[in-house]
Amino acid sequence: MSFSEKRILFCVVLMLGCTGFAFTQGASKAVSGNAHAQPAWMDSSLDPDTRADLMIHEMTLDEKIQLVHGDGWGVLQKGANVAPGHNGGAGFVPGIPRLGLPDINLADSAVGVRMAAWDSRYATLLPSVIGMAASWDPDAAFLYGSVIGRELRDMGFNMSIGGGVDLIREPRNGRNFEYASEDPILAGNMVGQLARGVQSNHIMGDIKHYVLNDQETGRNTLYAKLDERAMRETDLLAFQIAIGMAHPAGVMCSYNRVNEDYACENQFTLNKVLKGEWGFKGFVLSDWSGTHSTVKAALAGLDMDQPGDDNYFSEPLKQAVLGGQVPQARLDDMVHRIVRSMFATGVIDQPPVKTVVDPFRGRDDAQKIEEESIVLLRNEGGALPLAAGKMRSIAVIGGHSDVGVLSGGGSAQVDSPGGNALNAQPGGAMWGKPVYFPSSPLRYIREQAGPGATIAYDPGTDPAAAAKAAAGAQVAVVFVTQWMSEGQDSATLSLPDKQDALVAAVAAANPNTIVVLENGGPVNMPWAKNVKGIVESWYPGIGGGQAIANVLFGKVNPSGKLPVTFAATEADLPHPQVPGLTAMTGNNGADGRGRNQAKDFPVDYNVEGMAVGYRWFQEKGRQPLFPFGFGLSYTRYAYSDLQVDKGGKSVTFELRNTGAAAGDEVAEVYVTLPASAGEPFRKLAAWKRVSLAAGAKEMVTIPIDALALEIYSTKDEGWMRPSGEFVIEAGGSSAELPLRESMMLGPR
Ligand code: BGC
Repeated sequence: MSFSEKRILFCVVLMLGCTGFAFTQGASKAVSGNAHAQPAWMDSSLDPDTRADLMIHEMTLDEKIQLVHGDGWGVLQKGANVAPGHNGGAGFVPGIPRLGLPDINLADSAVGVRMAAWDSRYATLLPSVIGMAASWDPDAAFLYGSVIGRELRDMGFNMSIGGGVDLIREPRNGRNFEYASEDPILAGNMVGQLARGVQSNHIMGDIKHYVLNDQETGRNTLYAKLDERAMRETDLLAFQIAIGMAHPAGVMCSYNRVNEDYACENQFTLNKVLKGEWGFKGFVLSDWSGTHSTVKAALAGLDMDQPGDDNYFSEPLKQAVLGGQVPQARLDDMVHRIVRSMFATGVIDQPPVKTVVDPFRGRDDAQKIEEESIVLLRNEGGALPLAAGKMRSIAVIGGHSDVGVLSGGGSAQVDSPGGNALNAQPGGAMWGKPVYFPSSPLRYIREQAGPGATIAYDPGTDPAAAAKAAAGAQVAVVFVTQWMSEGQDSATLSLPDKQDALVAAVAAANPNTIVVLENGGPVNMPWAKNVKGIVESWYPGIGGGQAIANVLFGKVNPSGKLPVTFAATEADLPHPQVPGLTAMTGNNGADGRGRNQAKDFPVDYNVEGMAVGYRWFQEKGRQPLFPFGFGLSYTRYAYSDLQVDKGGKSVTFELRNTGAAAGDEVAEVYVTLPASAGEPFRKLAAWKRVSLAAGAKEMVTIPIDALALEIYSTKDEGWMRPSGEFVIEAGGSSAELPLRESMMLGPR
């Protein structure tokens, strides 16, 4: 048996990380002919670019071609070939053992590592990304990414595919739970921290889906239309910030077209903006089957075709290089970007070693993040917190809260330990089916309510029966759910399955009704004024049951703020219907994954342009149900004494906790640019999460990034600060800003 055969057997049977092991054997022989010498590129004192060049110098044309495309659908498609080194993730690129270049094993990991059950493994389900962003806590975002990076390592993967930073431009988008915010500064910073957390584990990180993949309906064929300035100041800005902060190994180009060209063969977004202007040094990989050509894509800046079945970057690329349609230097650049990223992130020097994922550590981290992510939207008459240990009776209703918490679907789906908590069916999650994780809110409510409490559970399937169960109880807690997934959007903002009628019936029967939401993004709540409390928990992750109970009973003082606007009705949105939805069979194309949509159609984002989310509501003078940046607490905060640094570089103010509980306040700073900028709305400029004991106060200083005071000039092809009066406001929500000061500024 040859060495490499032995290695494969060793890896398969023992499931140990073999990448580093492979290296010393193969590479030294090939390069030096001396079994003990280290090849020059293994000198870690050299920079990643030099190391990559040294290695690439030794590669054949075929080896180079092998690196720029995936090995096929692998475990994602029944019957597809699964190569021996394939670790059971979404993608696999075989390495070059003779040079010591490890395989690249890519795993979907938007909210935790996907496909764990494929190989009897476990992965932590984190709260959804939108929830993490609701914490407005960069440390929580970093921790989020660290959990993903740590578990990828433990499972033997060396590249994450996650880091969704598309803007929540379309509140009914099925993937909003994978994204962070409608605001580019919040989204970019939070997802940038997330990707840093991933890469801190010597795992290649990724930011996706570049760009304007803001709805799932017809995602493979739609033309996202948006003028350059608006694009630069919204969707592109989120990517610019996240990529600039994290220096991810990969950026995944999206399925849709951006104006005329597909995102994966788009000169403007790839070559000009991403690589040229932002100086991105990593590689662009296609979304799965998002490549549409060989020469055009290669020349526009695509570096890796995934999963590779379409064969654009295999033999056809080799022929295009030999024929001169794609210069050899361009192929070398693709390979350089991949190999330099492997050196830069440490996947060659510190390859992952398989071990057991620590489920307890993961659960604690997930719960901690969720406790910062929960947003208290309503608390009439101080109905919350409930009196821990002293309750008489609670009716807990709906949302399968007896068994667990809901998770989001699609390629972000994590496998639930013990199978779906709804039916305990073993095996990995199935596409298109809602999966509940075994963290039962009912169980933790029962624990905290106290020994004298009678807790009744009603499934909430029949509003009349639920109302009956609620009628006599001291408090009714209703769980409502909205399952969302990649590949489909929600046709409306309404909760599905007649849950509005359920809440209305319970609220009519019990004056102390609290609603807990488990949802992918904004929903409307026609019953909002008829209930005492509303708790937004997003998809709360594996520690969700505990986190929700801790907030309901006041063990945790809620501190999250909305990273998105909740409209009262679809009629108030820039697009009252999801564009393209009516033209579809079903709502997303024939195969349920947003693919195979027969006809191209435009999605005109110029309707709102720069006025995404809260900016739109402000510009049009419309009242949302709950505004961007809003969230209540069990204490109160007072803002005073605003001082703005003369050059607009920072703001300082006093923040005081005037209530009786300790808490964290997210203090928000907004700027309105001079009228000449043509942006008649305030924009988030900066924020800080501040912890304050009851009665405590602090002078808070928050730096303002120069970009927040600038606009993009297409004429000058760059960012510039307009001259005139800038209005700076600070407070606890985009709709409540007690501090205001204006200042005159000239160009920077
Ligand atoms: C999704 C990507 C995902 C890929 C691989 C695609 O359908 O859009 O986000 O990473 O599949 O699973």
